[in-house]
Amino acid sequence: MRTSFSFPTTIEFGAGALASLPDHVRARGSRAFVVTDPGVRGLPIFDRVMAVLADAGIVATSTDAISPNPLAGECEAGGRALRASGADVVIGLGGGSALDAAKGVALMATHEGRIVDYDDAKGGWKLIRADVPPVICIPTTAGTGSEVGRSTVVIDEDTHTKVVVFSPFLMPKVAIVDPELMVGMPAWLTAATGFDALTHNLEAFVAKGFHPMADGIALEGIAQVHTHLVTACRKPADLTARGGMAMAAMMGATAFQKGLGAAHSLAHPLGSLAGVHHGLANAVVLPYVVAFNREAAAERYALVERRLGLSEGLMEWLLALRRDIGIPHTLGEAGVSRALLEALSDQAIADGCHGSNPRPCSRDDLRNLYVAAFDGNL
Ligand SMILES: [Fe+2]
Repeated sequence: MRTSFSFPTTIEFGAGALASLPDHVRARGSRAFVVTDPGVRGLPIFDRVMAVLADAGIVATSTDAISPNPLAGECEAGGRALRASGADVVIGLGGGSALDAAKGVALMATHEGRIVDYDDAKGGWKLIRADVPPVICIPTTAGTGSEVGRSTVVIDEDTHTKVVVFSPFLMPKVAIVDPELMVGMPAWLTAATGFDALTHNLEAFVAKGFHPMADGIALEGIAQVHTHLVTACRKPADLTARGGMAMAAMMGATAFQKGLGAAHSLAHPLGSLAGVHHGLANAVVLPYVVAFNREAAAERYALVERRLGLSEGLMEWLLALRRDIGIPHTLGEAGVSRALLEALSDQAIADGCHGSNPRPCSRDDLRNLYVAAFDGNL
């Protein structure tokens, strides 16, 4: 079996890890450009990061012109602003969108054309060179694990579709993962992003393909969620729970280099067409996908049940976890209109993630999964 594995990001982990930021900037350049979103820009976290840089004598400029789902044009404008600033190190600060945008901004600072020209589905990774400025990611949520990932997802304004840009050169050089920066995250966002991390780990664990390293990380990532997610939602200042979920998020993103599954193919259109938060979309659809995969992934689901020591089955645990942290059971409750069913199904079948789902998915299968998730029918 010949394959290619890669786990290269340096991770500074734990309460107080933010203090390592100046050394990592200086090791790679002299001036920083911070990419964040308007929400984080208004929080004390932002001032704290800028103060850590200023106290170390590092000049930093910033942009917060980033949408909740970053637009292609925002990355291109950010790339121009980065060039104009003279900065040589990019810092992504925030949730998955800000971190993805930081990678897109770094790419567009040195690469010509439009970011959608680098669409992975069109072989765009071949056009991405090593001269992308170094990116340091500081996550403030625990979900996407974008801080250890090599892809960025942006919305193409012209087609309203999500475009994945993927290259080892986009991988952050450093992830500074400090649970102190996550204590202010509201319970709903902790729940939604936490379910994204869970979905990454679970889909990677059952994905088709040979990757025992990813499998080991994914199974332990699921266990981190099992131990910590409810506490992180209920006791926002519990640094052990926050740290556990931050670890689960990185483990999920590391593991999903093996592949994802149908839940992500259903979730991506819910984001682009209905504006549903990505983690919430996964959280709503995941049990329906587990039911769909029940036979194809039976052995793997049994391993999860054993690792977690569940007295009930995986499905019962997922449903109880969703109830405990306030995740709705149906797409209707999540605010999605049934009128979107055909458009959602068209985009879901075009999405690449279901290619590694343990049970093959036709458009009808994905449409039936949406119908089940509208009806609450497991
Ligand atoms: Fe995800």
